[in-house]
Amino acid sequence: MQLPLASFPSPIFLMHEARLRHNLERMKKVQEEAGIKIVLALKGFSMYSTFPLVKQYLAGSTASSLHEARLGFEEFGGETHVYSPAYREDEFDELLTYAGHYSFNSLSQYLKFKDKLFAARPDAKAGIRINPEYSTVSVDLYNPCIPGSRLGIRAEDLPETLPEGISFLHSHNLCESDSFALEQTLENIERLFGRFLPHIKLLNLGGGHLMTRDDYDVDHLIRTLRNFKAKYPHLELMLEPGSAVAWQTGYLVSTVLDIVNSKGIQVAILDCSVSAHMPDVIEMPYKPKIHGATDPMPGKPTYRFGGQTCLAGDFVGDYSFEKPLQPGDKIVFDDMMHYTMVKTTTFNGINLPHIGIWKENDSYEHVKSFGYHDFKSRL
Ligand SMILES: Cc1ncc(COP(=O)(O)O)c(C=O)c1O
Repeated sequence: MQLPLASFPSPIFLMHEARLRHNLERMKKVQEEAGIKIVLALKGFSMYSTFPLVKQYLAGSTASSLHEARLGFEEFGGETHVYSPAYREDEFDELLTYAGHYSFNSLSQYLKFKDKLFAARPDAKAGIRINPEYSTVSVDLYNPCIPGSRLGIRAEDLPETLPEGISFLHSHNLCESDSFALEQTLENIERLFGRFLPHIKLLNLGGGHLMTRDDYDVDHLIRTLRNFKAKYPHLELMLEPGSAVAWQTGYLVSTVLDIVNSKGIQVAILDCSVSAHMPDVIEMPYKPKIHGATDPMPGKPTYRFGGQTCLAGDFVGDYSFEKPLQPGDKIVFDDMMHYTMVKTTTFNGINLPHIGIWKENDSYEHVKSFGYHDFKSRL
């Protein structure tokens, strides 16, 4: 069914629920056929109005902070994992009320918090984040294995045996990667950290596994995980993707406010902002897909899209359309559910986009709208 674009408030992050379920079904298959556990990385996707659906499929959530841990505990349930480059002493007591699994980024952090952790939660699981010194990620911003990385302990910096109480290893080195990158990661883990594998109970292989992308080789992923499990039958394996859960599950629907001519370039100004609402477009950078548009084609009406802030760089590249655009036209950016809502700002005082869900039964559920208080309360 064609989405009734004109009926939504603008701009809006619009979740397409059927697409989310489609992804979750694939993740269910991976969990069942590989015999592993998958939890949602909240840093990538925290739209908790969808959690009643997501939690039917995934084992829990993983947090990068106190607030994410609380959200995961209160709104998701199941297992609550947490990892932080460094925990804060003044937050740790509260954190203990939410999370069951704690991944430590250094031995010094583990030694600092372990007594408190096991005294308050004798059932808690403690692990360390390792640096497998392998990544296929070409953008340094997303590569935890760059020289000088602060994320994870290198094998050479670990003693011969793990400190008492450590029951899992945690590795995160991928980003929108395929299953062959995971296969290589596992080889590195065995080569560098193999001496620890017989002594731990769980190996958390982090996020970055884009198993919901159409061309992802899910069967190879399942085979890779099964082969590894066959070698280490005592080990539980888990993945904690964010992007893969919300991959291509919804849109940022915006409206053309004006069209200006800048030395022959037609610039359409939208009621949203690239910098404030889809910052990865600038940070990564990448060019998002727009429905009904192509890359620039000679002879076709072509536009550059600019945001509503006064930041000169608040724009996204050029696109061609079949027909000229008019103020009031809707522009639909595709694949805008992950690393968008969790990263928005109110820069320039621009309002945050509404949030809504296009439900599986083709009805619209309005989740929330924002206003002046959201802007002011942060300042
Ligand atoms: C430790 C950790 N786990 C999981 C993820 C989720 O990764 P992705 O959204 O690429 O699957 C990230 C992302 O940065 C991460 O740092």
